[in-house]
Amino acid sequence: MQVTFRDSFAQLVLLLGISLGVAGCKHEKPNYIYMPDMVYSPALKAQKEGSMRMPVQGTVPRDFVPYPYKNDPDAAGRELKNPLRPTQAVLERGQQVFNITCRACHGSLGLGDGTVVPRYPRPPSLQSDKVRNWPDGSIYHVITMGQNIMPSYASQIAPADRWKVVHYVRVLQRSQHPTAEDLKILNQESK
Ligand code: HEC
Repeated sequence: MQVTFRDSFAQLVLLLGISLGVAGCKHEKPNYIYMPDMVYSPALKAQKEGSMRMPVQGTVPRDFVPYPYKNDPDAAGRELKNPLRPTQAVLERGQQVFNITCRACHGSLGLGDGTVVPRYPRPPSLQSDKVRNWPDGSIYHVITMGQNIMPSYASQIAPADRWKVVHYVRVLQRSQHPTAEDLKILNQESK
């Protein structure tokens, strides 16, 4: 078969037409999806109401411990007793939590000379007669509820750790106010 100039020209025009046609296609609409399964889900913002599961009304989390002394620091001091013995592990943990959380304001010895002072108001000394004579429950209460400009540390420090910090505050107090017994031991050791 002979290919004439006219045939080739016709083919060329046809090809050009097709490529222009394809190039001119606009993809403004997505293709028809006939079985989307679960590819598309409603877009909800994580914090939007309705996207968070709220706890059933009147329920509390499993490890929730009620704190009945919210507005009654005196009762906290009277009734709360430190459930832990000051073992070495307890004191070491107490020291760790104190140094992480309390030291910046209260200072290493609780003198009220932490690194944030004086940009932050100077806290009272934990070595005062007042705090030394406080029962453990009163210190526990301040950690739990805060006091005036001192915020509550209840969300950062678990109840058991608060009691460990209380024991450690007693260690700090005793380091600055040794008993006669402590001094006797110290004098013996230095001989
Ligand atoms: C952000 C600084 C800051 C941190 C951190 C902080 N405190 Fe305080 N604390 C204060 C200030 C300020 C006061 C005085 C509040 C007031 O005016 O009654 C205070 C008061 C207290 C008191 C009462 C003293 C008194 O004489 O009335 C105790 C006890 C205490 N803090 C213990 C702690 C312990 C334990 C921690 C760590 C768990 C801690 N604080 C962490 C700033 C701080």
